[in-house]
Amino acid sequence: MKFPKDFLFGAASASYQVEGAWNEDGKGVSNWDVFSKIPGKTFEGTNGDVAVDHYHRYKEDVKLMAEMGLESYRFSISWSRIIPDGDGEVNEKGIEFYNNLIDECLKYGIVPFVTLYHWDLPQTLEEAGGWTNKRTIDAFNKYAEVCFRAFGDRVKHWITFNETIVFCGHGYLAGAHPPGIVNDVKKYFEATHNVFVAHAKAVKKYKSLKQYGEIGITHVFNPAFSVDDKEENIFAAKHANYYDTFWYYDPILKGEYPKYVVDELKKKGLTPDWTKEELDLLKESADKNDFIGLNYYQPKRVMKIDSEEEFKANRENSTGAPGNPSFDGVYKTVMMKDKVYTKWGWEISPEGFLDGLRMLKKRYGDVKLYITENGLGDEDPIIEDVIADVPRINFIKEHLKVVKKAIQEGINLKGYYAWSVIDLLSWLNGYKKQYGFIYVDHKNNLARKKKLSFYWYKNIIETRGEEL
Ligand code: BG6
Repeated sequence: MKFPKDFLFGAASASYQVEGAWNEDGKGVSNWDVFSKIPGKTFEGTNGDVAVDHYHRYKEDVKLMAEMGLESYRFSISWSRIIPDGDGEVNEKGIEFYNNLIDECLKYGIVPFVTLYHWDLPQTLEEAGGWTNKRTIDAFNKYAEVCFRAFGDRVKHWITFNETIVFCGHGYLAGAHPPGIVNDVKKYFEATHNVFVAHAKAVKKYKSLKQYGEIGITHVFNPAFSVDDKEENIFAAKHANYYDTFWYYDPILKGEYPKYVVDELKKKGLTPDWTKEELDLLKESADKNDFIGLNYYQPKRVMKIDSEEEFKANRENSTGAPGNPSFDGVYKTVMMKDKVYTKWGWEISPEGFLDGLRMLKKRYGDVKLYITENGLGDEDPIIEDVIADVPRINFIKEHLKVVKKAIQEGINLKGYYAWSVIDLLSWLNGYKKQYGFIYVDHKNNLARKKKLSFYWYKNIIETRGEEL
């Protein structure tokens, strides 16, 4: 089978991780510009001041994407480039940059797939309470509308938010992302709710503009599976899916929160400060949402936590590797002897991907899906000047096979975006953890070089994945 004609083969990036030019052409300061400079927050103190200089080299980068045969480029817009202080004046230079980037993509027939929020919040808004302050909802709405009006004639695919669970979880529970708060469960749920409301408002606004494109949200797709058949662990996995998947997907796709979680939050006094108007808005926007984007890296293997001690001992682990207890001490994620892991301890599991997709279909029916991220973080070997990222080729191959199988099973999957198009700055892991098809030489003026995977993916796209 070849992949269907309307299936998009793409690759992705995010503004803070590639652009650099952090204080150029009127850009405001973002929360990450500040947070990454606090000693000890990132690997070797890396930050996005320069990143891989995509801001100045976008023409060279898009040309390489075109050479790879990429059909679509998923990138994000830096809010503080467009509205430097969050909700004040628009910065025309910021609009100009994204106009140029979009036009450069279209010159080669590359479909721009745009994320409005990939974690870099204007610092002024962060200081005013970030996503726990409802002012941020209105500010986002204004920013989204500016983007729709400026770019919507050419951009027909919009993602409002990238991975709410990560920026809220890391921001208010693990303290590993801005605002760096540890264990404030009340704020965590408050922030997630405000993001869903901001999403619903942006969807409503977008539809009212009649630009006839599509809009959705991207979530982490991290399905939980019990480590064994023990009832207590099966329960732990169910609990994990309710809190980490359904809490995020239900308000978008069903227009309401899962009762199981709502009831528990109520008992614990953790219910977000929501209004009837907001809940009605979620309800109303559910069938206006056009798709869900899934970022799949790994499943989680879950078991019940049996001692308070364990819960405390593992609090600090926040890089994505198993070992994390849940905030409520009900379950923990674990590594298993019979599973395969990356150098950073992330499980490699195409099977978990397929099982997870089936789980989604069961709960949400035929919703339209894009895989908006999937990829292997690795230290790529360079052998006689060749960047021999064979493990990445194998990883993507196995996951694309799953995508094909899922389509054959009737799962409504319309595109695949590898993470990432080019080596970029990992939020917490610096430049050591590489994901790209294009290598960036940090010892040689950020020179770009094609990896083996570049040629491999080019062939997959050209042949529409027939050999997979
Ligand atoms: C996703 C993010 O969570 O994971 C990306 O959307 C990120 O921005 C990617 O880079 C990989 O994470 P890490 O920690 O391996 O760089």
